[in-house]
Amino acid sequence: MTAEPRLDLDDIQAHVVPGFVQEHQRLLGWRLPDDDPATAARALLATVTGRVTSASAGLTYRAARQGLATALAVSLSPRTLLALGHADLASIDEAFAVGMSRRTYLRDPPAARWTVGGPGREIDILIILAGDDTTLLDDATAEILDSHTGCDLVHDQAARRLPGDVEHFGFRDGVSQPALRGVIDEAGTPLVPRTPMPPMPDHREYARPGDVLVWPGQFLFGLPRQSETDPVRPAAARPVPALARNGSLLVYRKLEQDVPGFLADTARMAAELGIDPADLRAQLVGRHPDGRPLVNPAATTRAELNDFNYDATDPDGLRCPLSAHIRKVNPRDQETDKGPPAATLTFAILRRGITYGEPHSPERGLLFLCYQTDVTQQFELLAQRWANNPERPRQGMDNGMDLIIGRTRPGTTRRARLLDGEVSTMADYVHPLGGAYLFTPSISALRALTTPESPHPPPPTAR
Ligand code: HEM
Repeated sequence: MTAEPRLDLDDIQAHVVPGFVQEHQRLLGWRLPDDDPATAARALLATVTGRVTSASAGLTYRAARQGLATALAVSLSPRTLLALGHADLASIDEAFAVGMSRRTYLRDPPAARWTVGGPGREIDILIILAGDDTTLLDDATAEILDSHTGCDLVHDQAARRLPGDVEHFGFRDGVSQPALRGVIDEAGTPLVPRTPMPPMPDHREYARPGDVLVWPGQFLFGLPRQSETDPVRPAAARPVPALARNGSLLVYRKLEQDVPGFLADTARMAAELGIDPADLRAQLVGRHPDGRPLVNPAATTRAELNDFNYDATDPDGLRCPLSAHIRKVNPRDQETDKGPPAATLTFAILRRGITYGEPHSPERGLLFLCYQTDVTQQFELLAQRWANNPERPRQGMDNGMDLIIGRTRPGTTRRARLLDGEVSTMADYVHPLGGAYLFTPSISALRALTTPESPHPPPPTAR
């Protein structure tokens, strides 16, 4: 067994690991001025660098809900990294370097129509604040808003978890997450506590039932990655500049949800199939609203909710449709067009999304946020290659599209294969409003990035 790497929890940002658990968040997106962007970037980062929440502080807060008034995370665009003199980091990942607005294969509306990160309003620095106490969160936000740094505020977004951690369509979210391998001290204590388990038929290893272990290099630069062929062994870390170590790549997308449209259109499709609309909606997600998976509706405990696979129980989608959102974006132990089930572990993402907008308000949805070290092979693969494509991830089968997030060209039909027959729609229930691909540096890298280069030695004094 290969030893798991030591994770530096004082260096990794808490929003990457373990994620923010606080009820409220505020996202502030800043654009650097064209004139002297480096000075403006350093000025803004100087106001927050000492306040970035580490993974260790995040874990303590998660366990006890105390010890932090607010939490804070910082992410940077390629333009910011270039302004700070780090072209190597600006080109660390192709999709990140190019920018989300140019990834046309995501089939997003044109960037000119985006409300977040559109032309001239691209986010160069994203600051995410989180708190359980809204007064403390507002105070921390005001302090940053009041600092005069020369950066333009181009995005100011409040977000709040809905009771029961449901998203706006009414389904419990955040149930399934990969469990990071790695230890946190000399004694070899694992980051994620392990429950001893017998070898599993899928040959993967789990921290506890349902929580599959993944090597941390999939989410943090400089650490061993997941092998594409062996579910247990690591692959070498991706070669990256030293300053990238313990950093990650953030995908941020504001996804507006048309809840009345979703309810009406799914009721129409259910009537056509002669089934209960609630049943049809559960088939589109792959879970019931309370999180119970369709392949195991008897699940009750938190562990049971995620303790399932497809190959033995439902290989061809007779209990959970192949079109279901959770099955399209994570086919688990099934072979895919990308190879053996082990490969699927290399496409995993750390989801950090949070809902925004009040229930019943027309402006509500999900701030989709996820971390990875390869945007093309992780987020984009799930969204474009799998969710959008009826021929994948199962090869030689009609998977249908993911009707929750799948996108076609405008004016074309979206079609899914459900248990009781085929359904199709011209409607989209989720509307992308823009966002950004960003780099989330380690805390030490952020400090190094914001320290001005040492000034040139003064010229010798003339006599
Ligand atoms: C508004 C848009 C979205 C909604 C309403 C939504 C909803 C959900 C729900 C209800 C679950 C089940 C809870 C869970 O397993 O944790 C889920 C799981 C998941 N979603 Fe989404 N989602 C959205 C967007 C996305 C996007 C854009 C992606 C990535 C391309 C994505 C990737 C995932 C993944 C990887 C899982 C876990 C699947 C598993 O491991 O079984 N979701 N989502």
